[in-house]
Amino acid sequence: MDSCHITRVALLVITFLSLFSTLSESNQFCDAGIGYGESTCTVASTSPSKILIKGGMVVNAHHQEVADVYIEDGIIVTVQKNIVVGDGVKIIDATGKYVMPGGIDPHTHLAMEFMGTETIDDFFSGQAAALAGGTTMHIDFVIPVKGSLSAGFEAYVKKAERSAMDYGFHMAITKWDETVSREMEIMVKEKGINSFKFFLAYKGSLMISDELLLEGFKKCKSLGALPMVHAENGDAVFEGQKRMIELGITGPEGHALSRPPALEGEATSRAIRLAGFVNTPLYVVHVMSIDAMEEIAKARKSGQKVVGEPVVSGLVLNDTVLWDPDFQTAAKFVMSPPIRAPGHGKALQAALSTGVLQLVGTDHCTFNSTQKALGIDDFRKIPNGVNGLEERMHLVWDTMVVSGQISVTDFVRVTSTECARIFNIYPRKGAILAGSDADIIILNPNSSFHISSNSHHSRSDTNVYEGRRGKGKVEVTIAGGKIVWENDELKAVPGSGKYIRMPPFNYLYDGIEKADADYLSSLRAPVIRSVRTA
Ligand code: URP
Ligand code: ZN
Ligand code: ZN
Repeated sequence: MDSCHITRVALLVITFLSLFSTLSESNQFCDAGIGYGESTCTVASTSPSKILIKGGMVVNAHHQEVADVYIEDGIIVTVQKNIVVGDGVKIIDATGKYVMPGGIDPHTHLAMEFMGTETIDDFFSGQAAALAGGTTMHIDFVIPVKGSLSAGFEAYVKKAERSAMDYGFHMAITKWDETVSREMEIMVKEKGINSFKFFLAYKGSLMISDELLLEGFKKCKSLGALPMVHAENGDAVFEGQKRMIELGITGPEGHALSRPPALEGEATSRAIRLAGFVNTPLYVVHVMSIDAMEEIAKARKSGQKVVGEPVVSGLVLNDTVLWDPDFQTAAKFVMSPPIRAPGHGKALQAALSTGVLQLVGTDHCTFNSTQKALGIDDFRKIPNGVNGLEERMHLVWDTMVVSGQISVTDFVRVTSTECARIFNIYPRKGAILAGSDADIIILNPNSSFHISSNSHHSRSDTNVYEGRRGKGKVEVTIAGGKIVWENDELKAVPGSGKYIRMPPFNYLYDGIEKADADYLSSLRAPVIRSVRTA
């Protein structure tokens, strides 16, 4: 009996033995009352716990092959050709389609209190949108409460109670003292957080000084956590905003004009150099400009461990929309750093395709048009943020793969695997391998997508990608082993998502100790000097 046959027999036995448990599984009802397309949410689902995906092109970041994927109880059991199963297994024919790891979005803000309001998508509606677009995990930013990390963490645990898919947390650092330093340790050692974000912009609210940045970098390094930066020079942005108001420019175009690419380039360079000074890895979030990207390219070329994250809006949009005469149309595109002039997006795409930038996020931070109208008379009061959780996978596929800029394996890398590696949860996430979580999408390259606020699953009444069409459609999303998106029907179940703890010391920390030792031995100091006698 060959090993393939043994596996098949084993699967048949397992299938038979567990048939009854499948049939007796209780129904779980999706939440029909609070936002995402109610018409898609009327069906009670008895989602099978045994699924066989047959005949698709199974794509991992390192390899692709035609194979079957067998899933049981939320875990991928086997990936191989011609798996045979008995009754009680849901079979999905994926012939001619791509079977890939579900997307992991490294950068979201759900239920975030910001600029006098709160993002319109909470953990349920944002995740419902994500699942409909093929993203099965995201990492959200915990904002401390009055500087307290523990209070911030507890608040976000509550916010995430209704999660319909797996999620993790980054944590922002907004002030510095002994308590914050101690709490960072607790977050890493006890709460499963392995990354901290430092804002160099948003003067007067989230912005921190270089002194704090240095303290934060040192602490991250000692804990094996990854420091992340929002890189814009906040003092200069403040000055730029004053200049625009003095010139009588109060509309959304003032947002772009007040914080030009040079300010993003300066802060990116500063953060990189300070990270180099401390000898810690660094993750630059939402890289929006050529200026910032080139700083990252330079640092990586010199051997520094810097990760650059473009976001979908920066890759595919340009700033001409901010000059739209209709306030509502223009305001929906206000985010920071701003969406840039034509040319930046294409350069960021090229950087992504050549490995200068490594993974794509969304910075999903949605406000509806009533919230955006808070800044009708003053662009400084327009809540910053755009949507993207539902659209990221389709737009990256269409913009990068269909155009021929990246391969399908690269698509998996930049939308899923690299995120899992950086945040130290690979291969549990980001892979279609035996033992990995069954977070899987089936994408039909011959089908097409159409984006509209009339059909999207976010609670927002607008969409910055309104009207976009493209090739490739996520036809099935499986999250935690359950089919949650199929036939354009969403079956997101509140409370079914799990918090994913992320351990410290990811691969970027390899070699850091050696570099420290090399640095110390290069100092040739202190010099022992003989005391001169007169
Ligand atoms: O405009 C943005 N990016 N809003 C979310 C907060 C941030 O800076 O990531
Ligand atoms: Zn930011
Ligand atoms: Zn953000």
